[in-house]
Amino acid sequence: MQAEGILNAEGISATANFPIATVRDAFPALNRTSGFIFFDNAAGAQIPQIVFDAVNHHLLECNVQRGGRYAKSREVDAMIVRARQSVADLVNARDPDEIAFGMNATSFIRLVSLAIGQTLGARNEIVVTEMDHEANVATWLASERSGAKLLWWKVREDGCLHVGDLIPLLSSKTRLVACTLTSNAIGSIVDVAAAATAAHASGAEIFIDAVHYGPHGLIDVQALDCDYLVCSGYKIFAPHMGFLWGRRKLLQALPTFREDFIPDEPPGKIEAGTFIYENVAGMDAAVLYLEDLGNRLSAADKLSDKPLSRRGALQRAMTRIRSYEQGLTLEMLDVLNGCRAVVYGIADTNRTYQRVPTLCFNLPNIAPARVTQELARRNIGVRDGHMYAPRLMKRLGLAPESGAVRASLVHYNTREEVREFGSALAEIGRSC
Ligand SMILES: Cc1ncc(COP(=O)(O)O)c(C=O)c1O
Repeated sequence: MQAEGILNAEGISATANFPIATVRDAFPALNRTSGFIFFDNAAGAQIPQIVFDAVNHHLLECNVQRGGRYAKSREVDAMIVRARQSVADLVNARDPDEIAFGMNATSFIRLVSLAIGQTLGARNEIVVTEMDHEANVATWLASERSGAKLLWWKVREDGCLHVGDLIPLLSSKTRLVACTLTSNAIGSIVDVAAAATAAHASGAEIFIDAVHYGPHGLIDVQALDCDYLVCSGYKIFAPHMGFLWGRRKLLQALPTFREDFIPDEPPGKIEAGTFIYENVAGMDAAVLYLEDLGNRLSAADKLSDKPLSRRGALQRAMTRIRSYEQGLTLEMLDVLNGCRAVVYGIADTNRTYQRVPTLCFNLPNIAPARVTQELARRNIGVRDGHMYAPRLMKRLGLAPESGAVRASLVHYNTREEVREFGSALAEIGRSC
């Protein structure tokens, strides 16, 4: 089944009617750093005031350990329950206990890969991709020490992963496919719903890295029909933390480290030790921010008199964010073409629905580090290098040490910023 809207051209319009001024007002950092252009969001996004307030509230009012009999401790317990439900709503989990909180995405991938490594048997093949962030590659490569055999799902000349290339790699020996939903380097979206269907047909499981897709569109673990999915809160307008979703039955079966008195049940068995409560409170508030945005958009569009369900509001917010971001992508492609930049990944303006506004490029004859340095001098934050995807860089014909320039936008970025970026880039192209 095609996950709703993920790789669907329908409903994609341009930047019109998106309440960008209201959105930007919600993010205090955007107004405090006069004129700075945040185009490095793939490395971490800004947070709305409501998230800041939730973190503050936790630290000021209930910065205590959970599980006590006193009121402040109970408040922490209640916040964690709320946050689990919020994240379950965000990814459409069947059960909030399928959500585990922790440090970051990498540590969850490591946790699951260590556990899977202990259960390999005759099904010992793991498929990884050339497109993924190294967090979802190196962790699985490490399971070769437990007897895993790694197979590579390769990126084609067009810079995309095609499910047709995955199918021949699958067999009765495949234990798991580890694959990204969207490339953090070049922004291409992978048809992971089709990959899940293929993996399941061979009796394998699929582990999805949704870190880069999270801020750009609606995640639906049921529609994707995946088995595990990981996200980083700090990419989705929350503080530094990560969360894992897994099918309850699979999480129950995973051998994980836990103290003897902790029940062998999710989420406790996945969350050894104490996670950062204030950041989980912030993650809860980030979901509230998106829900509130969805409700406002729905009211402004006068779509229905009935209040939206929470999931409905999240769906509305993410659909409109996706649509607004398509417009930003088109503007970025226009600017980059104007500067004669080589764009890696999908550059066809008719295929922008297959990507997010994460643009990876090089200017002719100018080193990527020079470009980012010059942009930094002009108050624009972008990144250069291999973006933790050195294998993809090689596949694109780039030296991983120098890589490319990446400008990564989210829904609080504007067309005006894109134009300013374009003028700066043109100037750099002329002067360097
Ligand atoms: C696609 C992708 N996967 C995984 C990670 C690692 O995330 P974390 O820093 O939460 O471990 C990142 C970080 O940039 C990423 O972009």
